[in-house]
Amino acid sequence: MVELYHVNKDYGRGNHALVDVNMAIEKGDFVFLTGASGAGKTTLLRLLFREEIATSGKILVDGMNVSTLSAFRVPTLRRRLGIVFQDFKLLSRRTVFENVAMVMEVTGVPRRQQRVKTYTVLEMLGLNHRVRSYPLELSGGEQQRVAIARALVNEPALLLADEPTGNLDPNLSWDIMTLFKTINIRGTTVLVATHDKDLITRMGKKVLTLDCGRLITH
Ligand SMILES: Nc1ncnc2c1ncn2[C@@H]1O[C@H](COP(=O)(O)OP(=O)(O)O)[C@@H](O)[C@H]1O
Ligand SMILES: [Mg+2]
Repeated sequence: MVELYHVNKDYGRGNHALVDVNMAIEKGDFVFLTGASGAGKTTLLRLLFREEIATSGKILVDGMNVSTLSAFRVPTLRRRLGIVFQDFKLLSRRTVFENVAMVMEVTGVPRRQQRVKTYTVLEMLGLNHRVRSYPLELSGGEQQRVAIARALVNEPALLLADEPTGNLDPNLSWDIMTLFKTINIRGTTVLVATHDKDLITRMGKKVLTLDCGRLITH
């Protein structure tokens, strides 16, 4: 699902965010990416959805060569991905329903099907009663579940989550992780960047660790 070969990312002025990273994530895997703040976790995720471009090296995501992908094919790549950020990135003037359904506007899914898919994913996340609410009327945990619903509605091959529990209390964090496990069992490959060591230990999943931009082996 994901392969990196000798990947380097420099932000200039000798800032080596990633240094000769080699790794592979198989289809169906559930993997944590960890490391201290500044270790390069976010950079690595941003390379995978082509928000950043590697300085050198080769990256394959779901069979696509991300480094050489032409700009007009980037949406094709992103349609295969679900992305969850720490700060949710919900639109405050749109309802929960609209925040989720709008992802499909660009993908050309018919209106009727958009409604069905949106209701299905909101129900799976226990948000049925929040469909008409606005993000600011929701708790932090609910907002993050809306963000996850939005990431899942296109049934992504790969879910990328960057510190998805960073703003949540431990109980809610655990709920979100349980949800990711379910999603993973249903066939989505999951990659979660987090510095929360307790969470990783409790989950007992594969772990990749970055240290100053280098992947360290255990
Ligand atoms: N857009 C950017 N411009 C310049 N430097 C950056 C940028 N993004 C990240 N960095 C630097 O790259 C390194 C890795 O950052 P990041 O990937 O955000 O790490 P993490 O997510 O593990 O905290 C840090 O030294 C950070 O300051
Ligand atoms: Mg980060």
